[in-house]
Amino acid sequence: MSRIERVIVKPTYSPEYPVIIGDSVLEKVSEIIQRELQQSPDKIVIFVQEPVNKIDLFNKLVENLRETYNTYIVEVPSGETAKSIDYVLKYVHYLHDIQATRATLIIGVGGGALGDLVGFLSSIYLRGLPLVLIPTTLLSMVDSSIGGKNAVNLFNIKNVLGTFYQPKIVIEDLRFLDTLPERELKSGLAEVVKYGVTINPTIVKIVENDFDKILKRDRDILIDLVKLSVECKAWIVNLDEREEKDVRQILNYGHTVGHGIEAAAGGALTHGECVMIGMIIESDLGVRLGYTDKLVWSKLTEISKSIGLPNKIPKSIDKREILKKIEYDKKRVGTIIKLPVVHRLGEFEIVKMEISKLISYLDNILEEYYEK
Ligand SMILES: NC(=O)c1ccc[n+]([C@@H]2O[C@H](COP(=O)([O-])OP(=O)(O)OC[C@H]3O[C@@H](n4cnc5c(N)ncnc54)[C@H](O)[C@@H]3O)[C@@H](O)[C@H]2O)c1
Repeated sequence: MSRIERVIVKPTYSPEYPVIIGDSVLEKVSEIIQRELQQSPDKIVIFVQEPVNKIDLFNKLVENLRETYNTYIVEVPSGETAKSIDYVLKYVHYLHDIQATRATLIIGVGGGALGDLVGFLSSIYLRGLPLVLIPTTLLSMVDSSIGGKNAVNLFNIKNVLGTFYQPKIVIEDLRFLDTLPERELKSGLAEVVKYGVTINPTIVKIVENDFDKILKRDRDILIDLVKLSVECKAWIVNLDEREEKDVRQILNYGHTVGHGIEAAAGGALTHGECVMIGMIIESDLGVRLGYTDKLVWSKLTEISKSIGLPNKIPKSIDKREILKKIEYDKKRVGTIIKLPVVHRLGEFEIVKMEISKLISYLDNILEEYYEK
């Protein structure tokens, strides 16, 4: 039997919107659009990430929309290359050619890279077109499609141009995860574990107890896990949509060190793999500085082993390079960085630290986290 769950995001400043999660929602997209949008679209432009355009489910979506709407499809290359200003300009031309108006609905179907590109495009074209996101990776379902942050890369600088722009609806059909490569699924699980460790420990229990079912894409477990994760993300976005209140920074847990490793690795590791190593190292730092119960560190290390995510840095990645990237982290304000710490599972705090101090602590700690 099909199951549909609904989480409402109520951001601090922007209008509220639903996240609809289930295993048969794609066939109902026209109905959802008619019900949820105040203005009926004059046309719909679907931006779809390759290879999602080749998945049968995507055809179901298109068929469903074409029964009611004049629908255009734009196929977007997979990965970070399309998340660039060149593609934004290309699609601005396209929208102009098809005479998109402010009543034209943009739908983004794909992972976080596609969502970031389409979110940015929708926010700037005619000062904002309505946006619906249909995330297709675990990471984009639990994280990037919710909360309104978007960005594209320029001059090799990741996420340097971006806006806050909330979607009108997020539609999550878990059948998309059936075709997702296992490495991408596990990568998304790192963000799920992040919510468990920082906000809701029930999530940690599900990942520990039902990992085999998750790998087999058991729909019920995945719906539970995605819904609980979306609730965590929504809770934070509702409290602090624009990272002004020292709350939203908790979503960066593991990401300060993780981003440093990711940037220095030059594509050898996925985002989630780096976040997993980052959470372990940041929890270790928390223990050494007296903020964190050692059980947090041991739980993270245990989980990384049981779900097959790395907990060590590959030897090929230069420590100096990692530290250099961390030093210029974009969360830094002047000489200070706001670092999320976890006291015990589900309890967090944002602490302010001199970046030079953080670098010197990490200089010692990182050494212990290299593969032998
Ligand atoms: N805006 C935010 O709040 C936020 C948060 C976290 C991450 N991000 C961004 O998200 C991006 C990473 O997102 P991601 O992990 O989803 O990666 P991704 O979008 O690059 O997708 C990963 C890979 O999976 C493929 N894919 C997608 N759905 C599939 C499916 N159902 N079946 C088979 N293959 C599929 C894609 O084509 C791609 O090759 C990064 O650019 C990151 O900066 C943004």
